[in-house]
Amino acid sequence: MKDPIVLFQDWLQEAVDAGLKDPTAMTVATVDVDGHPDARMLLLKGCDERGFVFFTNMESPKARALRNDSRGALCFFWTQLDRQVRIRGRAAIVSDEEADAYFATRPRLSQISAWASKQSRTMQGYFELEAEVAKAAIRFGIGQVPRPPFWSGFRLVPERIEFWTGKPYRRHQRILYTRTADGWEKQWLYP
Ligand SMILES: Cc1cc2nc3c(=O)[nH]c(=O)nc-3n(C[C@H](O)[C@H](O)[C@H](O)COP(=O)(O)O)c2cc1C
Repeated sequence: MKDPIVLFQDWLQEAVDAGLKDPTAMTVATVDVDGHPDARMLLLKGCDERGFVFFTNMESPKARALRNDSRGALCFFWTQLDRQVRIRGRAAIVSDEEADAYFATRPRLSQISAWASKQSRTMQGYFELEAEVAKAAIRFGIGQVPRPPFWSGFRLVPERIEFWTGKPYRRHQRILYTRTADGWEKQWLYP
């Protein structure tokens, strides 16, 4: 049986090779403090046997939700390939070293934007963001831009991974992998 992480990596690579726009884009679903589900798109920045990594503002609603309830879900859809992957698991904050290393790879203007954005808070208008960007740009001058203390990432450790392949007449193929004590269990699901 193929390891589902390896299978996911293969599918992602095929989406990249197919030239799809934003092949790493995924829906990230969380549960708010009040138990309400929420979902938004993010970019996947890493995937290996440890889990699925994404980066964000740690004061954002999604980060607050995950810090209160680590349960989350990811959903990828590659329309041209007629493939969907659904992942459920628990998210843990990545190490400072890992967040630093990823932040350092970002374009300088994106690094400055990370400092400028109070993600998901309200503002008077777009000019307010532009003013914050200008302030951050002046603050760091031509020096290196460090990672903001309020910016990091999560690694969602998968417990279930489902691979869906579209087939004619709604006879789609679905394979569910569920984590067990010593590996993964594979099951076929009706479409
Ligand atoms: C394709 C796409 C990719 C995105 N990637 C990210 C990302 O990697 N990190 C992030 O914080 N927001 C990303 N966003 C913005 C989020 O969807 C969202 O607007 C923002 O993170 C605030 O979410 P929250 O209020 O639920 O915390 C992306 C949006 C789109 C449409």
